[in-house]
Amino acid sequence: MINLRKLVGGVFFCLIYSGAVVAAPDSAAGKTMSSRCVGCHGAEGNSQSSNFPILAGQKPAYIVNQLRAFRAGTRENGMMQNMASNLSNEEMNNLAAYFASVKNKGAGGDSALAKEGESKVSMCFGCHGQGAKGMGVTPRLAGQYPDYLKRQLQAFKKGTRKNGPMSGIAKMLSDDEIAAVTEHMGSLK
Ligand code: HEC
Ligand code: HEC
Repeated sequence: MINLRKLVGGVFFCLIYSGAVVAAPDSAAGKTMSSRCVGCHGAEGNSQSSNFPILAGQKPAYIVNQLRAFRAGTRENGMMQNMASNLSNEEMNNLAAYFASVKNKGAGGDSALAKEGESKVSMCFGCHGQGAKGMGVTPRLAGQYPDYLKRQLQAFKKGTRKNGPMSGIAKMLSDDEIAAVTEHMGSLK
């Protein structure tokens, strides 16, 4: 008969020595540190201006990826490069856990354009998740500011923001289609 206690102990031992045991993100510590972000990203990550993306309800793996990209300079933005350069990996994980845990209040979008965009967004859901609620490293778009999303799509198109799949997709969309699709995303809950 297998000795269960020995087996579990063995598995635990292996995890420690493979380096797979990583401290779980501390959302409370992230909340405390988020005071540095409030000035731009708003209370609880629900920003009040399309200049600053809403972080509330965003996928934690996506947030961590972006913070690392700003720190490494592979995603360019002066303000965020400055912010991220002072953050450790652990602090990034904590901030991401906190922002993922708060509710996105929804930016909303122009209702006529949003209706027009409806027929074009199903191709986005495959990667961004049903209803564009996000999936892993693919961001939530639902409830995000349409004007922010427009700027990002234009940046992917021009190549000033780099991402293989998104550059290809953005190049397939005309400016009118970008307007309709982003107003649709903004109005999703
Ligand atoms: C001085 C203003 C400012 C502060 C403070 C700030 N940010 Fe930002 N942040 C921005 C701007 C502007 C952008 C959009 C950059 C762009 O257009 O590419 C952004 C983008 C981001 C993004 C990418 C979101 C997305 O949807 O891709 C993340 C994640 C982020 N910020 C996290 C943080 C965190 C965490 C803090 C606090 C530690 C913080 N920011 C503080 C201005 C700020
Ligand atoms: C093949 C998978 C895939 C498909 C299909 C896809 N996306 Fe993306 N999208 C991504 C990934 C991955 C990212 C994150 C890129 C990064 O890490 O910088 C992203 C990022 C974005 C962003 C940046 C969001 C932010 O918060 O900064 C926007 C806007 C966007 N996608 C819009 C769309 C739209 C609109 C569609 C449909 C027309 C679409 N995407 C279809 C994979 C996809």
